[in-house]
Amino acid sequence: MATTTIPGQLDLAAVRAEFPALDQRVHGYPLVYLDSAATAQRPRAVLDAIADFDRRDNANVHRGLYELSRRATDRFEAARSTVARFLGAADAAEIVWTRGTTEAINLVAMTWGLTNLRAGDEVVLTVLEHHSNIVPWQLVASRTGARLRYVDIDDEGRLRLDQLDRILADRPRLVAVGHASNALGTINPIREICERAHAAGALVLVDGAQGAAHCKVDVQALGCDFYVFSGHKLGGPMGIGALWARRELLEAMPPWQGGGEMIDVVELERSTWATVPHKFEAGTPNVSGAVGLAAAIEYLESLGADAVAAHERMLVEYGLERLAAVVRDAAAVAT
Ligand SMILES: Cc1ncc(COP(=O)(O)O)c(C=O)c1O
Repeated sequence: MATTTIPGQLDLAAVRAEFPALDQRVHGYPLVYLDSAATAQRPRAVLDAIADFDRRDNANVHRGLYELSRRATDRFEAARSTVARFLGAADAAEIVWTRGTTEAINLVAMTWGLTNLRAGDEVVLTVLEHHSNIVPWQLVASRTGARLRYVDIDDEGRLRLDQLDRILADRPRLVAVGHASNALGTINPIREICERAHAAGALVLVDGAQGAAHCKVDVQALGCDFYVFSGHKLGGPMGIGALWARRELLEAMPPWQGGGEMIDVVELERSTWATVPHKFEAGTPNVSGAVGLAAAIEYLESLGADAVAAHERMLVEYGLERLAAVVRDAAAVAT
């Protein structure tokens, strides 16, 4: 199909050609993949970065003085710096590798949550949350006696900020909210929510599983305290993602899992912990995943966040128009 490229817009044929998975027929038709909110397909740049790491640089990180271990460590830490830049973090030490959004929220719930929440404390969620941003808090609530409260949405699918204000008047400890909804696509006013929550003494965790893929993220401008996301939603590999938190929060949080990499000194009866972020990264990490995630970020940046966002807006408008036509046709048939 011939396409015309307008300056500032994506050359769709060229972009599509970067995704090998799209170059196949399914049930006899060229593949149309519409499940990117669940997981995005990966561009060649990501597949090549992973393959290159696996072929040439595979070695364990932070524990060898030989060439391959040095290269693997360098690529792993360079990937952390790429994520820090992508999120607008002040320091790469504020980026903790996790398996993804779900694990990052569990990390915060099981470390910050179990340390800071007491019986009667409140955690505020919204009815728009993915299960990953509900169930970890239910687990913490059942262990601490903390109480969960939910902010509703209006008829347009927007959060009821008037309700949030009423809940904040009871001085909850944490507001955990999605940046963009996987169900409705609503983009929440995170900056405003952070301002209101902080004025009431609450911290804010942002579930960026969808937000990192579709919105410009600057954690310092947003003013949140924790931001979490998954690599596979933005064209990176599965099994890698990150938690960003302000350094002083990470430093005050106890480790979550114990093992190699996260220790400073180990004795038979007790151990001391590595500095952040390594304190939270027990065991051999997903190094090729981190390299692949950094490549995905660089690929998205090469397309241009504004061009991608404009294309997505066009798709939403087209989708809504076509769906309205389906509804109109169905109503015409029924009458
Ligand atoms: C808003 C939101 N939060 C959390 C998750 C969970 O992400 P993961 O399964 O990568 O941990 C998803 C995945 O669909 C999501 O859309």
